[in-house]
Parts: sequence; structure tokens; C-alpha cells
Amino acid sequence: MLTQRDLFFRHVALPSRKPLALEIERAEGINMYDIYGKKFIDLVSGVTVSNIGHRHPAVLKAVEDQLGKYMHLMVYGKYIQSPQVKLAKHLADLLPEDLKTCYFVSSGIEAIEGAMKLAKRYTGRTEIIAFRNAYHGGTQGALSILGSETLKNAFRPLLPDIRFLTFNSFPDLDYISEKTACVVTEPIQAEAGIILPVPGFLQALRDRCNQASALLVYDEIQMAFGRTGRLFCLEHEQIVPDILCLAKSMGGGMPLGAFISSREIMGSLACNPELGHITTFGGHPVCCAAAIANLEVLTAGDIIQQVQAKGELFYRLLKDHSLIKEIRYKGLMMAVELESEEMTNEVVHRLAENGLVVDQFLFRPAAFRIAPPLIIEENQIMEVCSVITMVLDKFSSK
Ligand SMILES: Cc1ncc(COP(=O)(O)O)c(C=O)c1O
Repeated sequence: MLTQRDLFFRHVALPSRKPLALEIERAEGINMYDIYGKKFIDLVSGVTVSNIGHRHPAVLKAVEDQLGKYMHLMVYGKYIQSPQVKLAKHLADLLPEDLKTCYFVSSGIEAIEGAMKLAKRYTGRTEIIAFRNAYHGGTQGALSILGSETLKNAFRPLLPDIRFLTFNSFPDLDYISEKTACVVTEPIQAEAGIILPVPGFLQALRDRCNQASALLVYDEIQMAFGRTGRLFCLEHEQIVPDILCLAKSMGGGMPLGAFISSREIMGSLACNPELGHITTFGGHPVCCAAAIANLEVLTAGDIIQQVQAKGELFYRLLKDHSLIKEIRYKGLMMAVELESEEMTNEVVHRLAENGLVVDQFLFRPAAFRIAPPLIIEENQIMEVCSVITMVLDKFSSK
């Protein structure tokens, strides 16, 4: 008889030939358990989704309560649905003045697509600028601004009028002009291997966008909801984008995304022509209910306040290992760079054998990601780092 693993490889379409293919039966907090009862500590959080851990009781309760009322009622924006309204108000209370109007969607890619369309629609311009080594998703609009030729070349023609700049290059900002509808950037480049902005770069980008009347779009899809030690990454430098894209951890484990802007900018999607963006499942009420609980958990306690210290603890415990070339991090978003891609491939597999799940970055495969649920405790960080050290030690003595 075919096992579930056999059926997975036979019938589930896969985006790559080398999935980690763990067979997880249940997950709780920072832990996942496979069908053989083996425990794994999740150091990826489903790529920055499970910020408050798997199956947080507050999220479970919110989901159950909402299931008792209604699930999908109507395509987005037609009915007044209480979970959407409450979540939009909650986000508005937490975000700066120009980010008070929230367009709910179902995923990060859809948030990016919506933001690009909104910028074109509002400015009447067509050029979109993005950064090399940025990942914003794989649909054709998002792919057009993906900063890697390898992943997108086979899908051309893509959107015209796209230009790429180098992240942290001040001279490159001169390419932003009166033709530019928007510049899309992550405030910290994630898939490039956690590349932090150099001091002044994001402010210079904001200033240049203002001069050219181009919109600035922040993709905080990986970085928001406490990951970098602030609820939103934009808080670190007090720079306010014109459009903010959110997803991943927004729904506390449920699929949800949003692009957020001012009422004035957002208004352009609703006229000449109307229906500037249409989505059936965007802002699904059960997901919005989960997202409210997620926000309440994150803002009520001191989870976020502890994030930077926890990141520093990881850094201190790992930084002196001879196989580690560099660690780049902000809060609990960390890239651990080894000597080569081959070595990192093998380390990732050995860590999984030893019960730790990490993964590699799209554009920096010699580095592995450490992005655990933010609720990871100090003693768990010490346990994790001793396993990583043990695996790396065995590797160096090979
Ligand atoms: C920075 C960034 N933007 C956008 C996306 C696309 O999000 P989604 O996969 O939810 O569509 C991702 C996904 O990994 C991402 O990391």
C-alpha cells in the first residue's frame, strides 16, 4: 500500500524537487511533532508566520467563536463584516496617520499586486522600481519586481517599465524620477539573507520618493508583527511609507494579507473605473478574527519587548563558532552564514535529524534562517544553540 509520503510525491504538485518533507502530525507553541512522535523545534515559524507560536489558545478561541457565527458571506467589500471592521480599526490605531485605510486580501502576493496596481492607478504612472535580491512573490506582477533573473527569466514577457536598484546604494536613488509610480522595498531584505539598511538609506529613499512624487511601498510581509523587535518594522526609523504590505504572521496562522494606505490614495481603486481590485476571500472573517486575537496577544504582553534581547542571546551563543562566517540579524530574524551552499545544505539536514528545523534563503543559500516563534524562551534558545554548536562541531571534525 502506498504511504502518505508516496502519495505526496505522486499527487501533490511541488515547487521544487527537494522538499524537506517532514510529516508533521501536530504543532504546539514552538514545537512540531511528526507521525513517528519525533519532536522538532520550529526555528522558521513557517517562514515568519507563527510569531506567537503554533495554535495559540487565543487564536483557537477566536476562530471557534467566529465559526459559530459565519464563515464566508460575500466577496470582499460588499457587506459590513464585524471581524474586518474591528481589525481595520485596531490596525489604524497602531499605525501612523497616513496608514489608516486597510484593503484586506488573502496573501502576501496579493498585497503586493494590490499595492502595485494602487500606485499605478493613483499616480497615473507606469514605472515601478524595486531592489536587486528582493523577493515579493511569484505571480506575474510580483515576479516582475523580483530581483533575480534566474527565477523569472522563463516567464517573460512580464510587466514593462520595471527598474532595479541596489539596496543601500545612495547614488542609485537618482534613478527615481517623475516617471516612477512607486518604489517597492523591504525595510530589511529578507531572502537576500537579512540585509539591514545602512544608516540613512531608508530616509534618503523616502526623501527621493517625495521629491519625485513617487509612492514608497514597504513590503513588511516577513518583518511585521514583532519579528524585528517592534510591532512594525517601520517604527525603527519612524519612516512612513505610502503603502504598507502585510501578510504571513498577520493571521496568527490563518491566511490573510493587507495593503494599507491613506483614505485619499486608497480611494483611487474605487472609481474611474471602480472595482480596481477584486477579491473573493480577501479579509475572510475567520482569518480576521484570528488576526485580532494575534494582535491582542502581541500588544498586551511583553513578547515584542523581549525580541531584541532574545536575538542577541542567539548571536552571543553562536557567533564564535569557527564554521560561522557571519551572523546578520534584527530581533529574531537571523541569517547564519557558513562557508558554502553545500555545507549549509548538509547542516540544514543534520539539524533536522537532531530535531531543529531551519531553512535556507532564496538568494543567499550559504546562510540558514533562524526565525523562531517570538515566544521562544531563554532556556530553549540555549538548548537550540547547544544543538547547533554540536552539529557544527561534528561537521568541522569530519
Ligand atoms: C518579503 C515577502 N514578500 C512577499 C511574499 C509573498 O507572500 P505570500 O507567499 O503570502 O504570497 C513573501 C513570501 O515569502 C515574502 O517573503
